Amino acid sequence: MGEGRLESVHGHEAYTYDYGRSLLPGPASGAGIWRYQGLLPRPDEPTRYPLPVGGTPLRAPWELRQRLELPGLWLKDETTGPSASNKDRATALVIDQGLRAGVGVVSTASTGNAAVSTAIGGAAAGMAVVIFVPADCAPAKVELMAAMGAYVFRVREGYRAAFELSRQAAGHLHWLDRCTGLNPLTIEAKKTASFEVWEQLSDRAPDAVILPVGDGVTLIGAAKGFRELVACGVLAKVPRIVAVQARGCAPLAAQWHGVPAPAQWPGTVADGIEVPRPMLGGWTIEEVRQAGGDFVTVSDAEILDAVDLLSDGAGIASEPAGAAAFAGLRRAITAGLVGPDETVVAWVTGADLPAAPVDGERPGAVFAISAGLDAVAAALADTPVAVS
Ligand SMILES: Cc1ncc(COP(=O)(O)O)c(C=O)c1O
Repeated sequence: MGEGRLESVHGHEAYTYDYGRSLLPGPASGAGIWRYQGLLPRPDEPTRYPLPVGGTPLRAPWELRQRLELPGLWLKDETTGPSASNKDRATALVIDQGLRAGVGVVSTASTGNAAVSTAIGGAAAGMAVVIFVPADCAPAKVELMAAMGAYVFRVREGYRAAFELSRQAAGHLHWLDRCTGLNPLTIEAKKTASFEVWEQLSDRAPDAVILPVGDGVTLIGAAKGFRELVACGVLAKVPRIVAVQARGCAPLAAQWHGVPAPAQWPGTVADGIEVPRPMLGGWTIEEVRQAGGDFVTVSDAEILDAVDLLSDGAGIASEPAGAAAFAGLRRAITAGLVGPDETVVAWVTGADLPAAPVDGERPGAVFAISAGLDAVAAALADTPVAVS
């Protein structure tokens, strides 16, 4: 039974447990993220979430090991889930809770990938899905969400306004709120990737892990996973964490290195990590500091080069945000942040968009709005989503 309790960490809610070896999975434990039942805040019963999630491969990329002269390189390939990004873990755990509570609507704000994941997961679970994205969210992603039956709000004032509106609407209308960074289940879900890495390396941790940072949930989740293994008594210490941001939007790297941030960031091809005001910025920096890590930034050219390298050298069709950590690894090697004899795991967090697994029978809709609850209620008035 997962006996998680909420506590306050760096001003946010996080789950904690009475740690011990008995919480770790055994031979009879299930598959995917549900395998780590003892360290998830949910009753000990099978999930009703219908899609397989977690249990992603840890790849040994022989060619890339040679090219980077890093024989201990591994790639945590998070592109194999239902929506081809690591957002699927969080979507599953949040919707699992909503299904138990009998909630009919799930909502989220997102730079794109969490929204696609929620649209796919919500549709599979039979829930209505309401999404808030910045107006410049990739059109292909918005189309896919609507094709999955989601009601998508493109918010003119950008991601932060979309986030605040999403939060407000979910609170007022009693929707299941999957907002990344706000719902502590998102961190609980993402930590399971670290549990998997530990098991996949035969109950060992790597020396260093390389992770991309947008709002910070992926990195914090990964750190929490390793920390919980330490707390359970099966790991000596948390691996060093190298955090990667795109140079076109690197607020936390700037803060870390004491460099003034521009009034407006120029932007990046890696839209998944284009977050000028990260939700969990302070906490992310603290995790990197505690893990003896560092921040690196990568240019768009380096990110696109990493996309090509992952494709040619490891057969992984990543998208730019998904390849950012690998791009950062190359920098980390040059900067001496990672040694040639070390075991290193780079997270590959997202792939090209999946094809819409639908027949169009549940069409959604796309609305362009200025942030405001009234605009949301007016737009949804003619849909099955109750707004009163
Ligand atoms: C592919 C991909 N990688 C990494 C991230 C960064 O995740 P986080 O916001 O958890 O820092 C995102 C966020 O959307 C993403 O889409």
